[in-house]
Amino acid sequence: MSKYQLDSSPIYIDGTDIPKNKLNIQNSDLLHEIENNLLKEAYQTFSQNINATTKFNEEFFINLHKKTFESLYDFAGAYRDVNMSKGDSQFCLAQYLDKESKRIFNELEKNNYLKKYKDNKEFANKLAYYQSELIALHPFYELNGRILRLFCDLIAVTNGYKFIDYSGSIDNEKYIEASIDCVQYADISKLEQIIFNGLKKD
Ligand SMILES: Nc1ncnc2c1ncn2[C@@H]1O[C@H](COP(=O)(O)OP(=O)(O)OP(=O)(O)O)[C@@H](O)[C@H]1O
Ligand SMILES: [Mg+2]
Repeated sequence: MSKYQLDSSPIYIDGTDIPKNKLNIQNSDLLHEIENNLLKEAYQTFSQNINATTKFNEEFFINLHKKTFESLYDFAGAYRDVNMSKGDSQFCLAQYLDKESKRIFNELEKNNYLKKYKDNKEFANKLAYYQSELIALHPFYELNGRILRLFCDLIAVTNGYKFIDYSGSIDNEKYIEASIDCVQYADISKLEQIIFNGLKKD
């Protein structure tokens, strides 16, 4: 059974939780491996192409998803038009996605993409806030986590940090537990600690 409860999602191969894809792959391990290779390439390409004037706006965020996964998925770069939840967490309703997304990215722009937060603790707090907003938004059909972490890693890089090290929280349940707190209780404290632990100056 799919781990998703969807209104009805057009993106999965019937009766599976494997997304329809341009290579017609039906093996989820293989698909995951290809996704992760595409993600690795995107980390390289995008980190080489950002600079102090890059606007980390909604267009940039959507383009990250599109450019990273368009060779594999038709839904790359498209916001979902179905409601989605995982476990007991209901993500932003599809009808409010555009408005909510604009609110978050406008706020981030007003915050100058976090350029003024020089102290690690303060930077981790602000980045956790925006990351939690994007977790709750869950705008794409799939690959939300990996793209929003890439997005936050690129913001970290322009602020003089390395990519955030999530190794202590992604391979176990800690990142999901932190996400549940964000979506269900608007509590970013666990996520903030994860990001703080993973922050290293370049
Ligand atoms: N029960 C839950 N409650 C709230 N948020 C959740 C829950 N389960 C997962 N999430 C969030 O959804 C993200 C996964 O979304 P999605 O499957 O679209 O992205 P992904 O890149 O395929 O996954 P992952 O982040 O696991 O690599 C997680 O990173 C987490 O932030
Ligand atoms: Mg997924």
